[in-house]
Amino acid sequence: MENLSRRESIKKAFLAAGSFLAVTKLAQAKACLELTPDQVEGPFYPENDQTDKDNDLTQLKGSKKVAKGEIVIINGIVTDQDCKPVENALVEIWQACATGKYKHLSDPNPAKLDPDFQYWGRAYTDKEGRYSFKTIRPGSYPATSTWTRPAHIHFKVHRLTFEELTTQMYFKDDIYNKNDNILQSLSETDRDKVIVDFKIVEGSPHKVGQFDISIRSLV
Ligand SMILES: [Fe+2]
Repeated sequence: MENLSRRESIKKAFLAAGSFLAVTKLAQAKACLELTPDQVEGPFYPENDQTDKDNDLTQLKGSKKVAKGEIVIINGIVTDQDCKPVENALVEIWQACATGKYKHLSDPNPAKLDPDFQYWGRAYTDKEGRYSFKTIRPGSYPATSTWTRPAHIHFKVHRLTFEELTTQMYFKDDIYNKNDNILQSLSETDRDKVIVDFKIVEGSPHKVGQFDISIRSLV
């Protein structure tokens, strides 16, 4: 009993300390059932290097201001096709800010940029293949006059001797998912791998989503 409550206190302290690298064994088992599907890179991959490219996109280095929008935590595990965690993989994400605008010269969207948002971030996986990001739920934006892209986050995963993966992650409750040409071009099974259910988690002030990624080892 005492052990249980001690474990519970440690867990609460861990979450309260703002750590967002909490993952479950169950999620780990799910991660490697099949490879994560590739999706188009899109036209807005970051053009220039930036000073601040850490895994917290909600706050720029040296600034006290916080990005606008709903803050979310993304946790995940990168594994290979044999379910082995991939250590030291570089996970990059890039996305629009809360208004649906990318920090990219080719983005024709007239929406305003958020000067306090980081737009692009990177993380390396740890020994267990785990990575995490703190970011905001991006706004949807018009891809054409009749097609609105749902909220999504672009991912690239690199590791020497592994096939590079470029994909996109979606939010389960987004009303635009069902009409999105890119998401709907995937099979139902593949769609399930890239749609994430962000949930309220005890001890975390922000919703947390688990996006596990499986990449192909070439050796
Ligand atoms: Fe996009």
